[in-house]
Amino acid sequence: MKIKEIKAAKLNTKKFIKEKVAEIKKTVGKGYAITALSGGVDSSVTTILAHKALGHRLKTYFIDNGLMRQGEPQKVVSVFKKLGVYVEIIDAQKDFFAALFGITDPEEKREAITQTFYKKVFGRLVYESRAKFLLHGTILTDVDETVAGIKRQHNIFKQIGIDPQKAFGYKIIEPLVALRKDGVRKVAKALGLPETIYKRMPFPGPALSARIIGCATPQRIALVRKATVIVEEELVKTGAFQYMAILHQDKVTGMRNGKREYGLQIEVRCWKSIDARVALPIRLSFKILERLAKRITTEVPGVVSVTYNITPKPPSTMEAV
Ligand code: XMP
Repeated sequence: MKIKEIKAAKLNTKKFIKEKVAEIKKTVGKGYAITALSGGVDSSVTTILAHKALGHRLKTYFIDNGLMRQGEPQKVVSVFKKLGVYVEIIDAQKDFFAALFGITDPEEKREAITQTFYKKVFGRLVYESRAKFLLHGTILTDVDETVAGIKRQHNIFKQIGIDPQKAFGYKIIEPLVALRKDGVRKVAKALGLPETIYKRMPFPGPALSARIIGCATPQRIALVRKATVIVEEELVKTGAFQYMAILHQDKVTGMRNGKREYGLQIEVRCWKSIDARVALPIRLSFKILERLAKRITTEVPGVVSVTYNITPKPPSTMEAV
C-alpha cells in the first residue's frame, strides 16, 4: 500500500497530533504497548504521542545496544524525566555485539541489528510486559530507501512483505510514517519538546555501527565514539544537518615521534540537507579541517589519517554503512 506523504509545509500539527493520539488509543484498545526511545526526534515524538494516548499503559524503554554515543542513555532518560515520562534502560550490549561478531558486509550488519532489536530484545520485552504493540518512529524516508533497495533501514517490515506479528509476535504502530524529518521536527515543537530534541541531529537506528567500515567490535565502537565526540564538538557551530566520524577498515602507514606507525583512518562527513533524500557536503574551512585532523590524531589512539568526504548524496549516502 502506497503511503500518502504529508509535506511539512502543508502539515497542520494540531490536527496531526489529535488524529494520531486518537488512532493509537483506538488501535491499542485496553491493552498495553511498548515504545523504544533512542532520544532522536522520531522516537521522541512517537513516545510523547503514545504517552498522551495511553498514559501508564505505555512502557518506554531505552535499549542500550552498546552502539550509542557517549553518555547518550543517561542524557535521554533525564530529558524525558523532566517531561514526566519514565524511561527504563535495557542493557542489551552483549546481545548486539554477539550478533555483530565477525560481520563485515553492510547489509548483513543491518540485518543482524534488525533481528536483535525486533526478535530478541523487543520480543523479550513484549512478552514480559504482555504488550501486544510496539510503537515505532519510522518515517517515510526510511521506507523509501528500503523499498528502493538503497539501505535496509532497521525498522521496515510491512513494506517489504514481512508481517511483524508472524515474525516477532507483536504488531507495530508507526504514527510518523507519512512524514519526513522536517515534518517530524514541526510536530516535536508543537508537542512542546525541548529544542535539544526537535533540533537534534538525526542519528541512525544501527547507531555507531553504521559508521564502522568492517567489523563493529566493542573496541572499534569505542574508537569511533571518541572521534564522534570531537567531530560533534567542532562542527556544532556549522548548523549542518548532520556530521559524523567514520572508522575505516584499511590501515595506512603513518609516522609519530619519528617512527613508523601503521595506523587507523577516520573519515569526517558534514552534510547540508533538508530531508536526507539528497545532501551536499558542507564547504568547511581549512582551519576547521586542520583542527579536526589535529584533535582526532592526538586524542583518538592509533589514528594517523583524517579525511573529509566531498561527495554529494547521491552517489554517496550519508552514513557509510
Ligand atoms: P543514508 O545513509 O541512507 O542516511 O543516506 C539518510 C538518513 O537516514 C539516517 N539513517 C537511518 N535512520 N534507521 C534510521 O532510523 C536506519 O537504519 C538509518 N540508516 C540511515 C541517516 O543518519 C541519515 O540522516
